[in-house]
Amino acid sequence: MKILILPDPAAAVARCVEIIAQTLNEKPQAVLGLATGGTMEPVYARLVERARAGEIALDRMTSFNLDEYVGLPPEHSQSYHSYMRDRLFGPLGLDPSRTHLPRGDAPDPAAEAARFDAAIAQAGGIDLQLLGIGGNGHIGFNEPSSSLASPTRVKTLTLATREANARFFGPEETVPRFAITMGIATILRSRHAVLLATGTKKATAVAAMAEGPLSARCPASALQLHPRATIVLDADAAADLELRQYYETVHPQGQEVALG
Ligand code: GLP
Repeated sequence: MKILILPDPAAAVARCVEIIAQTLNEKPQAVLGLATGGTMEPVYARLVERARAGEIALDRMTSFNLDEYVGLPPEHSQSYHSYMRDRLFGPLGLDPSRTHLPRGDAPDPAAEAARFDAAIAQAGGIDLQLLGIGGNGHIGFNEPSSSLASPTRVKTLTLATREANARFFGPEETVPRFAITMGIATILRSRHAVLLATGTKKATAVAAMAEGPLSARCPASALQLHPRATIVLDADAAADLELRQYYETVHPQGQEVALG
């Protein structure tokens, strides 16, 4: 794992955007795995800014999102389809045929999950998978107890995750109980996984992911098995890391250092 610690959330977001931009510069037709959540909002805002400034092009990429709530149609305001349309796909006018999310309203969610994994494989696999992390260590919606070899499938959300995500829903709305999520095996097949975490609420989960045992108790710990995982943190999210000083020596200010 490459652990990059930046001084504040804005610097962590900028570093994450830099990694995405580098991937797209090297391979404009890259397949990106995209994530949702509050942490990713400034990432997409910055990508839109940079694309509008002509510094980066997203029009040739293909994307697959991590997850979607079961039962929510794409037009629902809290669906992840809407999240992506509002924050990235709409502002950049991306061709909808290049952007993929599981259909939460599919009549057979299990079949939809299998179709999604097959579509990723058919696109050649994911070049760069963007990830956030839940306070309980989930990635995508792979809650604790998720098989570390899981394919894309339906998962039941924990109460903690439903409560954490309730802030995005109206007072009269309930957070769905189920989601279709890329599996841990799907995520591990990506050629590069980039996880962004900011804020003290993520510190415990980040330490469990990077320094705890490989365990379904903390699904993000599966990234210890990923051949190329980059973890981008702000100082608050890095606060519980025992080996922090080492990571900061290897990558001062979260930057690459030439060997020698
Ligand atoms: C949701 C998403 C995850 C995301 C997590 C953290 O549950 N399914 O992909 O990483 O929330 O979200 P936030 O960035 O809002 O803390």
